[in-house]
Amino acid sequence: MKQLRSFPVQESWQVELMRHIYNDNLDMLSTKPLPYRTYEAQQEWWNENKKELKTFLYEPIERPGKFVAFLVLRDRGGFYTPIVAIQKEEWGKKYGQEIINDYIEKANAPLAGSQLQSNKAICHINKKVGWQILGEIIQPGGKVDLLYHPGINPNLQNDAQIFDAVLDYLELKQK
Ligand SMILES: CC(C)(COP(=O)(O)OP(=O)(O)OC[C@H]1O[C@@H](n2cnc3c(N)ncnc32)[C@H](O)[C@@H]1OP(=O)(O)O)[C@@H](O)C(=O)NCCC(=O)NCCS
Repeated sequence: MKQLRSFPVQESWQVELMRHIYNDNLDMLSTKPLPYRTYEAQQEWWNENKKELKTFLYEPIERPGKFVAFLVLRDRGGFYTPIVAIQKEEWGKKYGQEIINDYIEKANAPLAGSQLQSNKAICHINKKVGWQILGEIIQPGGKVDLLYHPGINPNLQNDAQIFDAVLDYLELKQK
């Protein structure tokens, strides 16, 4: 049964809520170096990028008004890249699994991504929902898997052009 309700991010107070969850989780989000964001930097990032983003805050159905997580799906042209973060005190309640299922549905297209191998919870969930490991790189935060998900849209699942674009994005193409 669903525990969460999603709300599209549209207003600056929502962008600010996302910033708090993001800054709180920086160590685990860092499959590549990411900056700590100030209020101004977050609003600027939002205004510059929002056209390419599908962004949501999640609220537990039983706790209206309490936003516990965010999702950012970035349109990369044919495929999406996701970022999910949940407030630390809310981990372990199956919210992560639910949000990941939700973004696969919301994207309705193939996805590319990465996971820190030390982030056992995300590696476990990603494997369960069908992310495939295409490669591995070493980043300052540790070893990182490079990921592909074919998505759930049957018309796009075997699209060679999109897969090629994903390889390009993940820098996995032979030079
Ligand atoms: C990763 C994250 C999204 C997980 O959310 P969550 O709500 O705590 O996850 P869930 O409760 O849905 O599921 C956790 C799963 O990981 C498993 N898990 C947790 N710790 C584990 C470990 N050390 N080893 C193996 N599996 C582990 C749990 O058993 C559970 O799996 P199960 O449902 O099959 O039993 C959350 O911890 C988070 O926001 N982290 C910071 C940001 C981040 O890492 N984002 C992902 C990168 S984009």
